[in-house]
Amino acid sequence: MTTTDATRMPVITRAPRTAFAPALPSAQLGTPTVPVQIDFDYDVAIVGLGYVGLPTALAFHHAGSRVLALDNSAQRIDTIRAHSADLLDDDRTRLLSALDHPGFVLTADEELLARAESVIICVPTPVDEHLVPDLTILRAACAMVVANAVEGQLILLTSTTYVGCTQDLIVDALSKRGLEAGRDLYVAFSPERIDPGNAAVSHDDVPRVVGGTTPECEVRAEALLKRYARSVHVVHSLAAAEMTKLLENTFRAVNIALANEFADICRALDLPITEVIDAASTKPYGFMRFMPGPGVGGHCIPCDPHYLLWQLKTKHVEAPMIRQAMTEIAGRPGRVVDRARDVLSDAGRGLVGARVVVVGVAYKPNVADLRESPAIEILAGLRDHGAEVAYVDALIPSIRMPGGGILTATSDPSSFNADLVIIHTKHDWADLSWISPSAMVLDTTYRELSIPRRILL
Ligand SMILES: NC(=O)c1ccc[n+]([C@@H]2O[C@H](COP(=O)([O-])OP(=O)(O)OC[C@H]3O[C@@H](n4cnc5c(N)ncnc54)[C@H](O)[C@@H]3O)[C@@H](O)[C@H]2O)c1
Repeated sequence: MTTTDATRMPVITRAPRTAFAPALPSAQLGTPTVPVQIDFDYDVAIVGLGYVGLPTALAFHHAGSRVLALDNSAQRIDTIRAHSADLLDDDRTRLLSALDHPGFVLTADEELLARAESVIICVPTPVDEHLVPDLTILRAACAMVVANAVEGQLILLTSTTYVGCTQDLIVDALSKRGLEAGRDLYVAFSPERIDPGNAAVSHDDVPRVVGGTTPECEVRAEALLKRYARSVHVVHSLAAAEMTKLLENTFRAVNIALANEFADICRALDLPITEVIDAASTKPYGFMRFMPGPGVGGHCIPCDPHYLLWQLKTKHVEAPMIRQAMTEIAGRPGRVVDRARDVLSDAGRGLVGARVVVVGVAYKPNVADLRESPAIEILAGLRDHGAEVAYVDALIPSIRMPGGGILTATSDPSSFNADLVIIHTKHDWADLSWISPSAMVLDTTYRELSIPRRILL
């Protein structure tokens, strides 16, 4: 079944169990909190195998679930099969065993969704160049899941989105097919909180929040997530679960903007910002440590608050603090360029013709994710001002620059003879020993204390 026109789809009843998926040994099954349905071939299907979906699929498989791992990109499936996906070491180990196991099926075949007892959607929810939510991918994925939905199935949306989205794209679309959430099948929303590249907190240990269309939907979604997650916090609506994620990431955006502003204030008053933050962080309550930086990247903080701001516009609700925070964050890479110009000028030279190398271009340490990375804007801004730029990042071989052209990572940054080194992202294992003690270094991370002639952003 390939059409995505949900309104014309007939209601499909449960698919018959096929022979390929033998029951797993009981030791591998974990402790299911609801009776296991025996007429589905897969316990859970994961739609979208990116930074969220692949670790989620592996967590379920590790917990003993039969997993259908679905991605519509053949390239992504090849990358996963070739063990080249950007994963933490533990997930790499999980992937090695999953790919050899009959209870883990990697596919692009959406028709198999009808054979899954639960379907989890984890596809991207970006914003466009006008900072308006781009729901194209999410709409297509939801339409596909709705078109293939069967009675008794649980559909769980985890993509970050606006409040009311699960109702609009899944519950209402299902009802057009004559399927009522809470009666014929089950629908819930659970925001994802994974922190790619962070090995300190295991994905399985991060509590999940979930809200369902009805109490029955809640119970089933909670039981599903408990197969791998150590704790699940239930809220009593889809909307509350959707809003929880928007609060979490808006909270981060606002606090990062505040940390950036404090860094600028401390520089103006000639105070050491890191010492001030370290000191404030000793307070055991009422303070949470946020570090200033070169801006924010990735698929969450630069995007998610815009889902809220966009939605509020239609209600004529103002959110000036959030808007201001997002504006400050968006302007931060430009400040890096300005600061680079100033420090070079203090050293008696301009940006025109200066040689500037950027260290680390991924949006954060230990990931190969360049989405929304401030480094791209910084490199482009420096180049626009006449600088000759290079970068070093073992995880990012090349960058497509705004306005065209490809910039390839330098393998020997010391031979670039930089007038200025800008530290943007420091991967845990990255070696900075090539930076000579006499080099002028602009540390936008505020963390590289060992660099001798460090200038802070
Ligand atoms: N990346 C993070 O750190 C993070 C953290 C928390 C929440 N989130 C949220 O999770 C969601 C997913 O983000 P991500 O970073 O994993 O995205 P991603 O770009 O890394 O991966 C998405 C995957 O979905 C696949 N896909 C797209 N449409 C599909 C379809 N119709 N059917 C099957 N596969 C499809 C893509 O090919 C891709 O492999 C977003 O809403 C994001 O905001 C992300």
